[in-house]
Amino acid sequence: MSPPLTKPTTTATTSIFSPSKPPPPLYSFLFLTALCFLGFFYTLHHSQNPKTTLQHATTLFLSSSSNSTISSYLHSLTLHPHLAGTSLSLDTVNYVSSHFRKLNLETHKKEYQVLLSYPVKSSLSAHFSNGSVVNFNMNEFVDSAESEKIVAPYHAYSPSGSVHAKVVFVNYGREVDYNALGVLGVNVSGCVVLVRKGGGLSRGGVVKIAESKGALAVLLYAEEGRLSGGVERGTVMRGVGDPLSPGWAGVEGGERLGLEDSEALERFPKIPSLPLSFGNADVILGSLGGRTMPPEWRDSGGGRSRVLKVGPGPTMVNFTYQGEKKLTIIHNVFAVIRGLEEPDRYVILGNHRDAWTYGAVDPNSGTAALLDIARRYALLLQNGWNPRRTIILGSWDAEEFGMVGSTEWVEQNLVNLGAKAVAYLNVDCAVQGPGFFAGATPQLDNLLIEVTKKVKDPDTEGGTVYEKWAAKNQVNTIQRLSGVDSDFAPFLQHAGIPSIDIYYGRDFPVYHTAFDSYEWMTKYADPLFHRHVAVAGIWGLLALHLADESILPFDYLSYVEQLQGHTGVLSNLLDQDISLHPLINSIQELASAAKEVEFEIKQLREQESRGNFIDLKLRALNDRLMLAERGFLDVEGLQGRQWFKHLIYGPPSDYEQKLDFFPGIADALSQSTSKSQQNRQAALQHEIWRVARAIQRATTALKGNLT
Ligand SMILES: *[C@@H]1O[C@H](CO)[C@@H](O)[C@H](O)[C@H]1NC(C)=O
Ligand SMILES: *[C@@H]1O[C@H](CO)[C@@H](O)[C@H](O)[C@H]1NC(C)=O
Ligand SMILES: *[C@@H]1O[C@H](CO)[C@@H](O)[C@H](O)[C@H]1NC(C)=O
Ligand SMILES: *[C@@H]1O[C@H](CO)[C@@H](O)[C@H](O)[C@H]1NC(C)=O
Repeated sequence: MSPPLTKPTTTATTSIFSPSKPPPPLYSFLFLTALCFLGFFYTLHHSQNPKTTLQHATTLFLSSSSNSTISSYLHSLTLHPHLAGTSLSLDTVNYVSSHFRKLNLETHKKEYQVLLSYPVKSSLSAHFSNGSVVNFNMNEFVDSAESEKIVAPYHAYSPSGSVHAKVVFVNYGREVDYNALGVLGVNVSGCVVLVRKGGGLSRGGVVKIAESKGALAVLLYAEEGRLSGGVERGTVMRGVGDPLSPGWAGVEGGERLGLEDSEALERFPKIPSLPLSFGNADVILGSLGGRTMPPEWRDSGGGRSRVLKVGPGPTMVNFTYQGEKKLTIIHNVFAVIRGLEEPDRYVILGNHRDAWTYGAVDPNSGTAALLDIARRYALLLQNGWNPRRTIILGSWDAEEFGMVGSTEWVEQNLVNLGAKAVAYLNVDCAVQGPGFFAGATPQLDNLLIEVTKKVKDPDTEGGTVYEKWAAKNQVNTIQRLSGVDSDFAPFLQHAGIPSIDIYYGRDFPVYHTAFDSYEWMTKYADPLFHRHVAVAGIWGLLALHLADESILPFDYLSYVEQLQGHTGVLSNLLDQDISLHPLINSIQELASAAKEVEFEIKQLREQESRGNFIDLKLRALNDRLMLAERGFLDVEGLQGRQWFKHLIYGPPSDYEQKLDFFPGIADALSQSTSKSQQNRQAALQHEIWRVARAIQRATTALKGNLT
């Protein structure tokens, strides 16, 4: 089913002009005449005042918003489950690409062949001390004709295995939790661990720690599923992208690691795991004997007050998981709107399309917003607008398996992206519930704030997103993109591209379950689709500014401020004899370069407003603004995890490390126990120097001159 487009797009206006030639903008006719009168004989695009163009584009973009088109896109995208690599997922590939094509946008697909993982069968039974046995139903109770199309709950890339062993409850499965068990004299070696989600660990992190403690298998449940009966699927792979083509694109016929290659094996857990419903977990938890759980764990199991034991046993479980890993074709879909003046500078909007089940929240609320932005940009194009820089709309596949589609594409296009990508704007779950949230690299903070001042708040009459956001004081807490939980990871952490990630609502109870459906969205998260409209508005306007402003709206003083903040936090964690001076000095140098650039921008704006032809000067300045972020990359990458090149933002290897910046320094801090005091200090000091040098590289790039 195709949603209605506001306008047929194969009209004479669009078809008689090739994409490289602009249609005549009617509204700027008088303006052009005036310029000609003043003696300007440049080509059409030079005589358009960039400010006016952007203002017109903004007005038209904002006035063409529509909740009904977004809701119809979401409805069509979520008719069936569409797990990556399955035949049903092809429906969404076709839906997105035909949408772009019908809008007359330049459209293409890019396929990769990658290793994905699917369940074959799973079973779990509990054998209680009184002799009774329960065979658990491992599926969700879905009341729908579609239910057999929904993949059974599983953990992608879990090894197959059968285990018959006693159960131990390990709370969130963090190191501190195992330490608490150690105090009670409980050893999980040889047991199946029962873990509740939510202690800040990733799924893969939970399994990795359990493995290191000698557990034989992991059962993971989410308390959010208590009411819905949902079971949370997810990946347990370590690292990002196709595990058989680490660092390069997984193309058909290209080099590929063997499944037993040590580098591939490092990516997979060694013990099997399965997700469990809250109800099933509760039955097991309630049957455990042994030591009483530590008081601070007591709310485990959804706020109940009964005193529970942690085991081991006496309950035994018979756990079986059989899965298959197989090479699978995945599809990224793109629409490209060529920039008129700087076609070789890219502003990229990206969202993944693949879902564990129906994906109404995760991720197709974002896809629906992306498709609506495409519709509105097409309308702008029909009205004579062309962006200064190229805008790319990207629809990624296989994000749920570990950002696979976006990562393969970034790896394949690394040189061009490094030289030409201005920014990457990510939306995953556009709407999960109320409240605006954002993450960004700091030079984009101000742009983000300015844009939220132009978009209507979806939940209050007359206000803007900014007002509501500021009132909740969350503007000061723009997150930094150190996590690896969506497609910004390859763009920022591998390629050093300034990035933004936005969404409404923080958590949602049907996450990765069969209940993440269109009905759930309309019932709970966004009944009138106004929050979708707000996200599409912010996302689309961010791209318009980045694509159309003659000087890139990047503010490196804001980066300086944030780096100073990070350094302050770090200094509280360090011993006296570690020196932060290299870091402090490098930030000061960046500050003075950023101030000089600010002055330069002022001067260029004055020249521009006098109508001087300064395109090459602007271009040179913009390149410096764009490339400064690349300075934070380090060819060697993080130690032991070379794919992660960004030394300011990236994930620490220790899942429990509290620093969400300077990942190399965070690693050195958490390796404290495995090294002598002297080695530890030297390693830490070295990592501080590395970050300082990264900041110096950014400064040099921003200044633009060779030393
Ligand atoms: C737990 O038991 C295993 C196997 O008996 C043993 O190797 C390990 O050292 C024990 N761990 C602790 C923390 O006592
Ligand atoms: C046996 O123990 C389990 C777990 O405690 C309980 O759910 C079940 O009702 C018991 N069965 C009998 C027959 O007592
Ligand atoms: C465990 O489950 C498997 C598969 O359902 C079954 O073949 C096996 O006999 C069971 N083992 C025990 C000890 O119950
Ligand atoms: C769009 O918004 C209007 C105004 O709030 C509302 O009446 C309408 O039901 C919404 N449409 C959809 C599809 O939610």
